[in-house]
Amino acid sequence: MPETVTITDNRTGQTVDIPIENGSIDMKAIQKLMPGTWVLDPAFGGTASTESAITDLDGANGILRYRGYPIEQLAEHSTFLEVCYLLLNGELPNQEQTDSWVHDVTYHTFIHENMRKRFMEGFNHDAHPMGMLMSAIAALSTFYPEAKDIEDPGNRYKQINRLISKGPTLAAMAYRASIGMPFVYPDNDLTYAENFLSMMWRVAEPQYKPDPVLAKALDVLLILHADHEQNCSTTTMRVVGSAHADPYSAVAAATGALYGPRHGGANEAVIHMLEEIGSYDNIEPFVESVKAGESRLMGFGHRVYKAYDPRARIVKEQADKVFEVTGKSPLLDMALKLEEIALNDDYFKSRNLYPNVDFYTGLIYQSMGFPLDMFTVLFTIGRMPGWLAHWQELLEQGQRISRPRQVYTGVGERAYVPIAER
Ligand code: SDX
Repeated sequence: MPETVTITDNRTGQTVDIPIENGSIDMKAIQKLMPGTWVLDPAFGGTASTESAITDLDGANGILRYRGYPIEQLAEHSTFLEVCYLLLNGELPNQEQTDSWVHDVTYHTFIHENMRKRFMEGFNHDAHPMGMLMSAIAALSTFYPEAKDIEDPGNRYKQINRLISKGPTLAAMAYRASIGMPFVYPDNDLTYAENFLSMMWRVAEPQYKPDPVLAKALDVLLILHADHEQNCSTTTMRVVGSAHADPYSAVAAATGALYGPRHGGANEAVIHMLEEIGSYDNIEPFVESVKAGESRLMGFGHRVYKAYDPRARIVKEQADKVFEVTGKSPLLDMALKLEEIALNDDYFKSRNLYPNVDFYTGLIYQSMGFPLDMFTVLFTIGRMPGWLAHWQELLEQGQRISRPRQVYTGVGERAYVPIAER
């Protein structure tokens, strides 16, 4: 059988054979058959926007691989900085490459003092850290105007390195500003996750001593969030990047997309949901309200996964380790009960609604002391290498500017009406 699909325009009897390649068909071929007729697919439910070699997602079977490596193995054996290197370069680094990469990231964590003094301190005391982080990332483009030279690989590397290095510094500053505490400078003797905890929590001690279990759990959570193929924020990164904007502007746009409660904001929304449910007795009535379409079960459902999100399983394992240190989250039993009910209820099963990465993540963050409005900031730090790997890939692919068409449904031509006659 030929690996093609045939489309016939029954109005003319004309047909076009389109090759099926790599599980996809090039729908531009339809333009030969029916010029000016567009493939309509709002929210890209059935559309591949690009080819990519970075992350392989099999939603039906709950499989996630970064550059071919299963997420379960990376979570168990790797580190976040090693995963950053893997996503950006396609291979796990050897010792020399690891030492060089870790050095470059460690020694670029500081930010310009004007950012600290005049920018971050300019926000209101109750500013949401995601709004602060998104703005600060965009502002970084004004300190590194050379970032506009996106064609130079060496320059791209410098900006990628800065964004991965400075993300935690800006994130911690957003938190410290929100509680009126002085900023903590990076500590180059600590690992990436330890340094972030130090910048978040250090008070007057000469050096912050992070709990190794919590630092490891945070590093694993960053790995789990590092990439997820063409999700909403990564697609945003690629669209803005296709205009050849500088990477800081593209990352700021992606951060804005991640801020949405349907996307990266879900981890914060899960805690709000559990706190609103309030008690065991309210779980069944809440589930009924979800089935009646009055509420959403936040942290459940996924556009791609129609099975258990493999990351959610790993997050749950990390939660047990964290709770041994911090004490069990008071919301955990409710979350477990909610999951048990949903996994056995036809409404959720028929819609393939399973826990996603956000369902348990918030419980860990909350137990580690992070305030709710910092949860999506943590997601941003984790997703940074994924966004940058896709940005780099689209430039290397020589991709054209993203410019979809539309189906116009508005009124036809009409003459201007003077205001006295309206
Ligand atoms: C992330 O894309 C990614 O990869 C994202 C992410 C990543 O790593 O980048 O994995 C991270 O964003 C995870 C998702 C976090 N969001 C949430 O947990 C918010 C709650 N979930 C949803 O709102 C929803 O499930 C989405 C947004 C995740 C997916 O939405 P879709 O694919 O557009 O599905 P849909 O809204 O069309 O729903 C299909 C059906 C509908 O029912 P019917 O109209 O057919 O009767 O399922 C229902 C929905 O009502 N449904 C839910 C539900 N999610 C979908 N019903 C109750 N609770 C939910 N959470």
